[in-house]
Amino acid sequence: MEINPVKGTHDIYLKEANEYQLIENTARAVAELFSYSEIRTPIIEHTPLFLRSVGESSDIVSKEMYTFDDKGGRSITLRPEMTAGVLRSVVSNKLYATPDLPLKLYYLGPCFRYERPQAGRYRQFHQFGVEVLGNPNYHLDSEVIALGHRILISCGLTNVEVKINSLGDETSRNNYREALKKYFADKVDKMCEDCKRRYEVNPLRILDCKVPEDIEIVKGAPKMSDFLTPEAKANLNDIIADLKSIGIEVSLDDNLVRGLDYYTGVVFEYHVKDENLVDVGAIGGGGHYANLLKELGGPDLEGVGMSIGVERLHYVVSQLTTPELMPKGPDVYLMGTSEYIIEQNVAFADMLRSSGFATMMNYEVKSLKSLFKIASRNNAKLAVIIGEDELTKNTLTVKNMLTGEQTSLKKENWENVLSDLLKEYVETYYSKVLAISKEEKEGN
Ligand code: HAM
Repeated sequence: MEINPVKGTHDIYLKEANEYQLIENTARAVAELFSYSEIRTPIIEHTPLFLRSVGESSDIVSKEMYTFDDKGGRSITLRPEMTAGVLRSVVSNKLYATPDLPLKLYYLGPCFRYERPQAGRYRQFHQFGVEVLGNPNYHLDSEVIALGHRILISCGLTNVEVKINSLGDETSRNNYREALKKYFADKVDKMCEDCKRRYEVNPLRILDCKVPEDIEIVKGAPKMSDFLTPEAKANLNDIIADLKSIGIEVSLDDNLVRGLDYYTGVVFEYHVKDENLVDVGAIGGGGHYANLLKELGGPDLEGVGMSIGVERLHYVVSQLTTPELMPKGPDVYLMGTSEYIIEQNVAFADMLRSSGFATMMNYEVKSLKSLFKIASRNNAKLAVIIGEDELTKNTLTVKNMLTGEQTSLKKENWENVLSDLLKEYVETYYSKVLAISKEEKEGN
């Protein structure tokens, strides 16, 4: 008797497997261009991890989890998403105890949700994503949004839309929740069973409802943007301005609340618009979470992350483009010793990455001495320094991290000179470092 695949699962093979590989390699290469490193966590976790993070008011936890008791009587769940497991691992392994915060991690793996299978919706699917943990800094939020955007662009997509919203800080959210309760109080009886439950546990979830009659009621609901505190508004505007400075235009979407409970602050989604494609929903999404690490037993560090659904990305890429591989490696460490220089460096890092230089930069002001330590710990090949002096003269100083040699160059010549300096670095590495180790060997 033939045994069929489980409903909502699919096999990937031959040509399609090659296409998946290309997409996954591109995503990995982009994450490494931004100096993220890989984390792999188990597919199975203790069930309470998801109750405490994704949240009991979410559809994922209330309806979609594959949960079972193992032979030892423990409640185990197949991960429905990656963020919770990654943060659990950061706490279990004390990965936050590093001199090089923020911690920047990327991952790829299968996830499981008991959903009704349809276009772009499976019961087993794959997520590629990143999580960043550190002190709050809006540049990190915009970096994560830009990283996901760059993955989609690097896969050859041109019509990517980034939708963005802010769930605000605790005060904004509490006020908004109260306003929603008031608005829905005399309407909830006519709404679906899910909305009745959402009204009790988390009225924000009602904005996510897909039932046509409920969508009509939701249209008249108060808007989150009217409840944001001035700080929360300023944070959202800073992120939008940062993205604009590297050519990413976003669209504000007041109804974007996302289906997971851990978000605070900015939330976003990537959509690909094309009238010839079946609408598979968001290709990816993510947001800021100020409290999740602490709630899972870690220190008081904030986080931001995003995940892309590999099946959905593969669908749009296979319909619209031919993806290409990206180069790998941390070629440049871009140093900023003041807030102003860091602002400038955001755009310059983007130009470097656009030209294929794997680039790392600092977002917190540090002394040159400590930046060199970081650059050397991370095996950067070239350190690029733009100080006050360089700013006025419109020059860059580049230091070969192997020989210590410094070169001063005009900013407009950076691309050719950096390519030459990188080649020089590689040649020196082979002739000096490898030759020395050969001599040492012979000497022994
Ligand atoms: P999410 O929006 O639930 O966010 O999922 C991210 C992406 O996974 C979706 O945009 C979609 O492409 C894909 N996806 C979700 N469910 C399915 C499904 N049933 N079939 C196929 N693809 C699916 C998260 O999971 C968050 N952990 C994202 C994040 C990371 N937030 C912060 N860090």
